[in-house]
Amino acid sequence: MFDLSLEMLRVVEEAAIACARTMGVGDPDGSDHAAVESMRRVLDTIAIDGTIVIGEGERDKAPMLYIGEKVGSGVGAEGAMQVDIAVDPLEGTNLCATGAGGAITVLAASERHGLLHAPDCYMEKIVVGPQAKGAVDLDAPVKQNLKAIARRLQRGVDELVVVVLDRPRHRKLIADIREAGARIRLISDGDLSAGIAAAVAGTGVQAVMGSGGAPEGVLLAAALRCLNGEILGRLVVKDAAQKERMQQMGITDVDKLYRTEDLAPGRHLVFAATGVTDGNLFNGVRFTGDGSRTQSIVMTSAPPTVRFIDTVRLENKPDVKVRFR
Ligand code: FBP
Repeated sequence: MFDLSLEMLRVVEEAAIACARTMGVGDPDGSDHAAVESMRRVLDTIAIDGTIVIGEGERDKAPMLYIGEKVGSGVGAEGAMQVDIAVDPLEGTNLCATGAGGAITVLAASERHGLLHAPDCYMEKIVVGPQAKGAVDLDAPVKQNLKAIARRLQRGVDELVVVVLDRPRHRKLIADIREAGARIRLISDGDLSAGIAAAVAGTGVQAVMGSGGAPEGVLLAAALRCLNGEILGRLVVKDAAQKERMQQMGITDVDKLYRTEDLAPGRHLVFAATGVTDGNLFNGVRFTGDGSRTQSIVMTSAPPTVRFIDTVRLENKPDVKVRFR
């Protein structure tokens, strides 16, 4: 597949700039809309025949970036590259709306059928980086997993930081992690960016545990394929209606254990994310009066590349200047 890294980078950068203008305004829907509208517009400038496989929801509920929507300037054109696209235009809508850290714009792309069409439900997850890959088991007791991670990282359990979404449903998980002796970072939102941090050495995060969005799980799996990390996940079925919906989507075994490669099986994956508000991995968008500055990651699975990108966009003014950092 032709390398789409820089095109996809532009999509997440522009979306971040658009929604960062709404930072702290207190309007999560408005922030999300700004990111969605920007992503949709920029995707249409790329010469691909793209299909949204994970997006803002079903066609009848989402006006843009709905599942199945065609995007790209090559839609229907003979010989155009067929690309499946998963987006989370703004992960952490509340974080952006309140100006809290950790909001990012996210996109993953692959050849056709390279990303699981995950239903919009929760997924129970455990996420680790390269060193602890293969050492964890979603069905094992929390203590056992933490010991296994600590062993691989050659440190004590008390030297691990585990990120958990701060939700009542995680009360037992949090108690188990505390009992095992690991340190916890409770977050209000954003288990996808936490998962990326767990797979990048030096971020101070060694694992993510608990249930979060299943679509976020697929996007994270695409990132982890590029970073050599691991996610294990299982869909959380709320009720019979949701189970039926999953079966309609072709998921026959709702108890299936998904591994990284099941969630993002593509041979040619591209993953791109840009910081909207300051976080673990990126600074948020800076507006400088004569342009903007963004920090992003863009990665490919084949060849394996990870680019940390610092982009300065300049306005066409006579006195424009660029700072080193
Ligand atoms: P948004 O994209 O809607 O901002 O999602 C934020 C998020 O915190 C995800 O990171 C996480 O997977 C999910 O929501 C958790 O859902 P819930 O808030 O229902 O626990």
